[in-house]
Amino acid sequence: MKTNVTPDDAAYAGQAAYTPRMLSVYDLVVLGFNAHVMWRCSPRRLVALYDEHVARRHLDIGVGSGYLLDKCRFPTESPEITLMDLNPNPLEFAAKRLRRYRPKTHQANALAPFDLPIAGFDSVGLNWLLHCLPGDIASKSVVFDHCQTVLAPGGVVFGSTVLSSGVKHTPWSRLMMNKLNSKGVFSNLHDDLEHLRDQLRKRFDALDVQVAGTVALFSARS
Ligand SMILES: C[S@@+](CC[C@H](N)C(=O)[O-])C[C@H]1O[C@@H](n2cnc3c(N)ncnc32)[C@H](O)[C@@H]1O
Repeated sequence: MKTNVTPDDAAYAGQAAYTPRMLSVYDLVVLGFNAHVMWRCSPRRLVALYDEHVARRHLDIGVGSGYLLDKCRFPTESPEITLMDLNPNPLEFAAKRLRRYRPKTHQANALAPFDLPIAGFDSVGLNWLLHCLPGDIASKSVVFDHCQTVLAPGGVVFGSTVLSSGVKHTPWSRLMMNKLNSKGVFSNLHDDLEHLRDQLRKRFDALDVQVAGTVALFSARS
């Protein structure tokens, strides 16, 4: 599998960093160091978010190393999991880690219609995806529209994202965030807590948005 975006595509930079080598240290660097020290939102809190919302037919978008799906508790022993990512490396890495669940993989851009079954999922996870997507919160929220298409009635979309404003940054976390933006790994310099709430409110009836450090944790249902 090759990545199906070219470097001139706005979505390219946000997925390009996830090489097999990077994924082998992802848990340690991104979930160990960055989550605790920089963003001040522990992986335990993220696993709790998954425990609360993950359902039998689950679609995960932007899968990274697959850590959260590996650690969370599904409501059944045999969940139907679909992993979606623009980059084939995380798909391969996470599918191997989660092989006990025999997940399906789907290589696709979250900013375009997913080409997955309409109303085919009870939950969609978007953890630490939005801050990798180009554009402002209003334009990247097109992802929520695509999620609505694949969610079954009563289904839930949930996840978390590092924000630039509406949350408290330390000088170190702002420095790190700016550095990641200059490399193109992050694209969140204009991502604001209230803007995120507004975009969710526009689309969903029931929503919950909480803040841990520099991270907004959200869940929403129609
Ligand atoms: C920071 S990692 C998050 C991994 C995991 N969800 C976690 O919380 O640990 C971001 C993931 O999103 C993927 N990604 C970035 N841009 C994407 C896009 N436009 N469409 C689909 N996946 C994308 C990357 O390849 C990567 O696997």
